[in-house]
Amino acid sequence: RTVYVNGEYLPEEDAKVSIFDRSFLMADGVYEVTSVLGGKLIDFDGHLARLERSLAELDMAKPEAFDDLLAIHRKLVELNGIDEGMIYLQVSRGSAGDRDFVFPDPEVVKPTLVLFTQSKPGLADSPAAKTGIKVISIDDIRWGRRDIKTVQLLYPSMGKMMAKKAGCDDAWLVEDGFVTEGTSNNAYIVKGNKIITRHLSNDILHGITRAAVLRFAREAQMEVEERAFTIEEAQAADEAFITSASTFVFPVVEIDGVQLGNGAPGPVATRLRDIYLDESL
Ligand code: PDD
Repeated sequence: RTVYVNGEYLPEEDAKVSIFDRSFLMADGVYEVTSVLGGKLIDFDGHLARLERSLAELDMAKPEAFDDLLAIHRKLVELNGIDEGMIYLQVSRGSAGDRDFVFPDPEVVKPTLVLFTQSKPGLADSPAAKTGIKVISIDDIRWGRRDIKTVQLLYPSMGKMMAKKAGCDDAWLVEDGFVTEGTSNNAYIVKGNKIITRHLSNDILHGITRAAVLRFAREAQMEVEERAFTIEEAQAADEAFITSASTFVFPVVEIDGVQLGNGAPGPVATRLRDIYLDESL
């Protein structure tokens, strides 16, 4: 596989980042995941806009190659022959050649930019889209700026492990009695023709897939309500689903051991997935 590091396209074995890089020592980095379908980047503009916002919120300098990011994404897709899969991008504040809590001077220390591809044949045709996924709920003990897409992913990763241990696929995070989002996706419930998903704030990541799916839902005359909901409300809903760049739309068929409806993916989630894939391809 060919990867990109600070201006160079290299075989992955030759790609190097300093052990003093602040993303390694302090999780001082932000990232984006863009999916690829039929060799085409999905929602690239949205991911780029969110990256720019994440950098600004953390006072992190834009990497020199910021304006070339579309070309870099396209080149990596081509070099690695990606048909279905994803591109991972990470920017860190760089390496000051030492460990220090104080941010290095951006005039002296330049950001580190890394991109790589992951081929995932069958991504659009995932079995989970047909069977639905099972989720558990866990406490949301993450920091208060989840709107910034940082690489602090230890707790989401632990949440995923807790779900696996419980024989489930993912975890929904709950704060003050209300669902914030999934470990790496946004969470929704459906009541009749109404889609309910948490309003945007610093409490959740502003999903790029979320924005697209809500737009398509409104265009299809579905009602959208952006507000917080509880696990009890979700368990009593007609349907539930998640969205993210890596899943698009996955139906949720069980929450904390309670089956939703007849346990099969619901029509709204299925329809939204179909619309999203149609519009993206
Ligand atoms: N995760 N919420 C969280 C906490 C996320 O990590 C993600 C994305 C989302 C969905 O955002 P989007 O629709 O822009 O992908 C919501 C990516 C896919 C990941 O970490 O792999």
